Amino acid sequence: MIEGGEPLVGEVGVSGAKNAALPILCASLLCPDTLRLGNVPHLNDISTMLRLLGQMGVVVAMDGNEALTLDSSGLSNPFAPYDMVKTMRASILVLGPLLARCGEARVSLPGGCAIGARPVDQHIKGLQAMGAEIRVEGGYVHATAKRLKGARIVTDMVTVTGTENLMMAASLAEGETVIENAAREPEIVDLANCLIAMGADIVGAGTDRICVRGGERLHGAAYSVMPDRIETGTFLCAAAASGGEITLTHTSAALLDSVIEKLREAGCVIDGSTDSIHLKAPQRLKAVSLRTAPYPAFPTDMQAQFMAINCVADGSAVIRETIFENRFMHAVELIRLGADIRIDANTAVVTGVPKLDGATVMATDLRASASLVIAGLVARGQTLIERIYHLDRGYERIEEKLARLGARVRRVR
Ligand code: UD1
Repeated sequence: MIEGGEPLVGEVGVSGAKNAALPILCASLLCPDTLRLGNVPHLNDISTMLRLLGQMGVVVAMDGNEALTLDSSGLSNPFAPYDMVKTMRASILVLGPLLARCGEARVSLPGGCAIGARPVDQHIKGLQAMGAEIRVEGGYVHATAKRLKGARIVTDMVTVTGTENLMMAASLAEGETVIENAAREPEIVDLANCLIAMGADIVGAGTDRICVRGGERLHGAAYSVMPDRIETGTFLCAAAASGGEITLTHTSAALLDSVIEKLREAGCVIDGSTDSIHLKAPQRLKAVSLRTAPYPAFPTDMQAQFMAINCVADGSAVIRETIFENRFMHAVELIRLGADIRIDANTAVVTGVPKLDGATVMATDLRASASLVIAGLVARGQTLIERIYHLDRGYERIEEKLARLGARVRRVR
């Protein structure tokens, strides 16, 4: 429940990145030693992944509030059941490591999700190129390989988890693997750095050509997860839309150039360094058009939040979504709050209105929920957001962090 109208003011810390922590947790499957991880965010997606790893035989221990240790010396069950995979597509990230370490894996196909079909054909194609035998049967990917062999893989499109799966598998393969058309997201670099700390030989992460020289085994390591650039961007948008002034700590401006550039275009004054970001919003934002594309271009995971800020900006903006085919579900909910949005296929035209009005709205996916929170913060009166379990998948204690910045927000039953 949000009572809108308060500008966000103050300082808040950003949590560890969900999309870096998830593949890094899966990297623990690659070796029988202990992986000690810091800055792992407390999120439902992380708990789901830990449960999934736990039922495979990985022993997880909390070490203080922020650190986790994972011990996969007793890994015995290379199986990811549908019940777990269906709640979180990132579960497919166990496929590469399981196959590389155990020589077999049975992982449920994730199926579609609200924002689009999201197949995993590129993960499968890459592993087959490395010599895996793969059957898709009964909704499961059954994969076997005596030992994976290095290969040159050219993916048909840029895929983040696909690149991560192949990079992990390649680190235990025989010989060199080259992944062409690799995703360049900072989370890929973070995973690569963790794998390197575990003894992997990886060059080129962060470019579109990654070379992995496989080894016989990896070893334990200690690693700290990077800051969440999408949480960072979401708080920047919330402060911008509410006419506020905030400082975000434990995050880096270098992770979100394209987002900061758009916020500056909207009229915000932003000072960023490698450990904090300060934003001061103008009286009223200017509308900003954008097109989503793989990193370093504008992230699809920030599209919904920018739609929300354009709803109350001065002028009209054109938003093009090029990654997922059905990622405008937040638009109809924003329209319930009084926004002026027209959708035509993958394009949304948003014309700013002076004010939104609070209403009951429904969250449909993770980032859509974030856009409704931003809209609720600027709307007149009360906005009740239902199905906030989507938010808890990806934002750590969001209502506490917003309240610390002066928002009137509370969790209600
Ligand atoms: C990751 C992120 C997600 C983000 C997305 C795009 C994680 C855990 N999730 O998701 O938050 O929105 O990147 O930045 O890191 N595709 C195929 N075949 C494949 C793989 C992908 O057709 O085998 C398509 C997808 O349907 C989509 C596009 O490629 O249209 C990009 O998807 P991908 O980068 O794989 O997204 P995820 O890794 O699932």
